[in-house]
Amino acid sequence: MSEKKIPVIIDCDPGCDDTAALLLAFRCPELDIRGITTVSGNVSLEKTTYNALRVTEAIGSDVRVCPGADRPMFREPVYAPHVHGEDGLLGIGLPAPQKKASFYKAWDFIYEEAVAQKGELQIIAVGPLTNLGIALAANQDLAGMIKRIVIMGGAAAGGNVTPCAEFNIYVDPEAADLVMRSGIPLCVCGLDVTLKAYLTAEEIAGIKALGTPQAELFGAVTEQNCEKIFCPEGAPLHDPAAVLFAADESLFTSQRCWMRVETTGSITRGKTVTDCYSDAQKEANVDLVLDVDRERFAAKVREIMERY
Ligand code: BDR
Ligand code: CA
Repeated sequence: MSEKKIPVIIDCDPGCDDTAALLLAFRCPELDIRGITTVSGNVSLEKTTYNALRVTEAIGSDVRVCPGADRPMFREPVYAPHVHGEDGLLGIGLPAPQKKASFYKAWDFIYEEAVAQKGELQIIAVGPLTNLGIALAANQDLAGMIKRIVIMGGAAAGGNVTPCAEFNIYVDPEAADLVMRSGIPLCVCGLDVTLKAYLTAEEIAGIKALGTPQAELFGAVTEQNCEKIFCPEGAPLHDPAAVLFAADESLFTSQRCWMRVETTGSITRGKTVTDCYSDAQKEANVDLVLDVDRERFAAKVREIMERY
């Protein structure tokens, strides 16, 4: 008998690697995608919502897309057009969407779906954590109703926006720290693992050659990230790593540890502070994902894309 699918919400800011993550998530047989929530991050909320609508249409899904926060909880927005282009999708030119965004706000949808799923809901969070921060601040009982959050964000070592902070956590450190303190089971796929979860240029070309519009789209949003300074072997699949972790943890290795987010430091804003390389052991609150079986990961990505 087949296992019950995992009900998930994908909270995202598409975004090139968010788009790759969505393409994969909708063909993971393990996942039942209840909805997409969007947030200000790589580009503005208006653009991430528009992109989520056109990407889900390219996938052929009528899943609901619920817009969330148009700015971090307490700070000015920070965007990444130098990575994702002014429109968030490198001007790739997907058709305008037919469908409209949901009238539900992201945090209301998260709460209602958590209630509806009776403790089984998981969230895959691959953008700044503002929507979850707002949802937790507004609903005292929410934390106890979410089974797990798989986060793409942070790093035990290093950063990409600053020497010590990763983009998603840097953008809204207060929201991220609220999530860290929530008591919800958390799995953190930070740069430690996502820089190892890469596809080579040849592997991306192989997926593109599958010839479906979805494989073309996957290639277009992924190939531009090849051979950057910290991942000379190929293109790191940051957000897809969180999706694949949610679907099949056996590809990854993780370690229980304590994690909090620096919110007050002048040069350490958004650093995820852990005790995993420290003698000062504290009470663990996260599973920190540190390694991936790269060959199996790449094979699984291809196998999923072959389902289009
Ligand atoms: C993360 O930042 C964003 O630019 C990507 O979409 C990913 O979620 C990587 O640091
Ligand atoms: Ca993202």
